[in-house]
Amino acid sequence: MLHKHVDSDEIMKHAQESPVRNHTDRGKHVTTLAYGSRYATEGIPKFKLPEQSTEAQAAYQLIHDELELDGRPNMNLASFVHTWMEPEADKLIMENISKNLSDQDEYPATMKIHARCISIIGDMWKSKGAVGTATIGSSEAVQLGGLAMKKRWQARQKAAGKDTSRPNIIMGNNAQVALEKFARYFDVECRLIPVSAESHHCLDIKKAAEACDENTIGVYVILGSTYTGHFEDVEGMSKELDRVQEEKGWDIPIHVDAASGGFVAPFAFPKLKWSFDVPRVKSINTSGHKFGLAYAGVGWVLWKNEDFLPKELIFTLTYLGASEQTYTLNFSRPACFMIAQYYNFVRLGRQGYTSIIKNDMHNAKLLSRALENCGYFDLVSDMHRAKGVFGYERASGLDAIKESVKGITEYNEALPVIAFKLTDDFKRENPHVKQAAVSTLLRTRGWIIPNYPLPPNEENIEILRIVVRESFSQDLVDTVLSDIIWSVETLAASESGFDAEVFAQKTDPIQHAHKLDHPAHEGRKKKYGSQC
Ligand SMILES: Cc1ncc(COP(=O)(O)O)c(C=O)c1O
Repeated sequence: MLHKHVDSDEIMKHAQESPVRNHTDRGKHVTTLAYGSRYATEGIPKFKLPEQSTEAQAAYQLIHDELELDGRPNMNLASFVHTWMEPEADKLIMENISKNLSDQDEYPATMKIHARCISIIGDMWKSKGAVGTATIGSSEAVQLGGLAMKKRWQARQKAAGKDTSRPNIIMGNNAQVALEKFARYFDVECRLIPVSAESHHCLDIKKAAEACDENTIGVYVILGSTYTGHFEDVEGMSKELDRVQEEKGWDIPIHVDAASGGFVAPFAFPKLKWSFDVPRVKSINTSGHKFGLAYAGVGWVLWKNEDFLPKELIFTLTYLGASEQTYTLNFSRPACFMIAQYYNFVRLGRQGYTSIIKNDMHNAKLLSRALENCGYFDLVSDMHRAKGVFGYERASGLDAIKESVKGITEYNEALPVIAFKLTDDFKRENPHVKQAAVSTLLRTRGWIIPNYPLPPNEENIEILRIVVRESFSQDLVDTVLSDIIWSVETLAASESGFDAEVFAQKTDPIQHAHKLDHPAHEGRKKKYGSQC
């Protein structure tokens, strides 16, 4: 038997490129003092990889300081995306931050948790055999839901010897950009149904049914319009499509975009029929990072059962070890936020989710009524009105409003979203006040409350929008209300009008910091900027 002593130190010595560099040389230009580093007086690298390294502490501090110019997540009332989790969830996230959700074979315990989440969400949405996957968010999930409908339609057309070249999909023109992206990216004609006050600023189900033909792959119905929080009528749409099938023979499915509503409806409105108990609903997406109460980076798409997930979407891979199946658009993605979602399921249960969403609804109604009562605003959202009562035109006069609150037992089903606008009376008396300036002025107090027009057909109506999230307690409701009133009264008192643009550029450091570094990006207006 051959005995040999292998000296690993010796091997390493010969494996080194010679000569071995002196460690002290390497740090010659580096200082551990963040504000003593060259970047305290030189520009931080923005457009090219720097030639030299920097001490970790200095790099951290400089980037940290720059990010302090961002808005404060808790005062960002523009976003549906939740910004707070319990310290235990933060701990789990940090412990698992390096895990890739696509490494199924390497992380079997993570994959078990993934499967449990699908089962829990499927049960919450009233399906026994649901299949599905975690995604990066609703945008990816919506593409997958759309693709499944397209594949199923193509298969049906092919089997009947019919044309498959001109698919179309129906949605309200209040649809979030992710839905329109599906149509454009995957060559499906996008039939946008204009919204109106009569359709409560969201999908008009009768017009949607009229727009269908034999090339319609499906209808996207939105549970929780991004603009105003209204729930679209999933059950009503399903019945309209039943009628279409009876009359024309076209069997058209529904995909529910429940980006926000998927975690609101089951707890705030458990009796509402919108999920897999509605016959035509074959797939649903949601954002775990919205009312699923996790951080940004987790969404879900589920199909009622495997019959509705076409085989063409599923890839079987073998290159990471064992054979694994994938049907997402993204391959690598963080596992930690999916794990954070499971933490919420275990920690909160139905009881916890219900009490959080009920508090959100309570605070949203409170702020809605307070804004209506202050006399400066009309409420375009209807979540604070009795079930079946819609429209700010009806709510004229303070007494009428106070009266309308009495004895309400059931409210309109909607997200805890407040969409409001200056009244016509206020605008007549203060023609110099632009509603957008209310948003700008509030920014100086740290609040982020966007102002934007409703979709085409109602684009002459601009709304300010507040999303009430778990971290927006009643104390903050009081504060934001008084700041909103302050901003309106300040604007009204400014004699010759108020140039919000000038004000924003000169005195608002946060707005200023938001201007992108590159001059080419200046002035590029984002149509969907405030709709996430
Ligand atoms: C109705 C609706 N659908 C889809 C999306 C996109 O969701 P995500 O940001 O999770 O990709 C949003 C985002 O606000 C939304 O409101």
